[in-house]
Amino acid sequence: MPGAKLCAPPGAPEGRDRTVRIGVLTGGGDCPGLNQAVRAVVMRGMDHGFELVGILRGWDGLVKGDTIPLGLAEVEDLVDKGGTVLESSRTNPFKEEALLETTLKTIEALRLDAICALGGEDTLGVASKLFDLGVKTVGIPKTMDNDIDETDYTFGYDSAVEVATEACDRLRDTARSHRRLMVLEVMGRHAGWVALASGVAGGADWILIPEVNLDLDEMCDHLTRVYERGKHFALIVASEGVELPAAGGETAERDAFGHVILRKRGVGEFIAKEVEERTPFEETRLSVLGHIIRGGAPSAFDRFLATRLGIKAMDLAKEGQFGMMSSIQANEIRGVWLRDAVDQLKRVPAELYAEIKTLFK
Ligand code: F6P
Repeated sequence: MPGAKLCAPPGAPEGRDRTVRIGVLTGGGDCPGLNQAVRAVVMRGMDHGFELVGILRGWDGLVKGDTIPLGLAEVEDLVDKGGTVLESSRTNPFKEEALLETTLKTIEALRLDAICALGGEDTLGVASKLFDLGVKTVGIPKTMDNDIDETDYTFGYDSAVEVATEACDRLRDTARSHRRLMVLEVMGRHAGWVALASGVAGGADWILIPEVNLDLDEMCDHLTRVYERGKHFALIVASEGVELPAAGGETAERDAFGHVILRKRGVGEFIAKEVEERTPFEETRLSVLGHIIRGGAPSAFDRFLATRLGIKAMDLAKEGQFGMMSSIQANEIRGVWLRDAVDQLKRVPAELYAEIKTLFK
């Protein structure tokens, strides 16, 4: 129902308005900026006269009817807090029919007029599908992976890149002291944005991303040349999603949305072993950054972006623009269709990676 207006609640007396109730949830992997977006949603929602209800642990809270009040007192001091006060989960209500039925019943029982979902491809995908079923949803794109289409950036990404870049700088220091080759594995799932940006900013000698086929010969030949020209330390930044020759394929363990659980693939371990055998560096060591990249206070950029996207989401709800997501495009905050945003992932273009290779000297 594009352009639908907020409706009277079920059972409301004819012709009498009541406060519009909007459920707010955060789903999928947490990331810096979630609390700041929730804070903005509440503050803007208050201006529009909405009553905000916090739904705990993403879609799981809608299955179970697990809510908390969400007012100024709950959000005011969240400006620098990492994680999400609403907690999160990877529950997929579309996984089983019974789960979906329960979810729809809970929405009715909680008398929610609309739902504001903060999430990545999975959470926003659910919001889009619920909209198709007649539930009024608006979305806010978050993820450190930065892989949501129809928006230039997702919050969480800038903060993650900052942490990963600092890790690169630290690793280069110790690598230099010990003449070592360091491998840093970073999260990013199917997109190499974090590896690429932090690898560039952190002076990596080679960067591996899921969008580009792994060519061990090319990388090891290059690293050998680096060693032979007299630089006896080096850094490789590898995204966890890089396809390995024996990655488990169909048999690999998957989550509720069908994604391979990447931490079990050991990309960093594989790469470290290969370069140790194939390059002349004295020693190779591996660091896996993992969830360190997801916690902590968000960067100022992410706080600002999260705030702007949160405000826009409530404006979309006010205007009855459901099935939409707030987004940033060319520094303008806009509404875009959720279905377009989740249709495909925004991955690193081949040309960008090719351009960056100019740094591998
Ligand atoms: O999608 C965000 C993300 O951090 C990915 O980069 C990573 O693969 C995944 O979440 C890890 O999820 P979990 O915390 O459930 O292991």
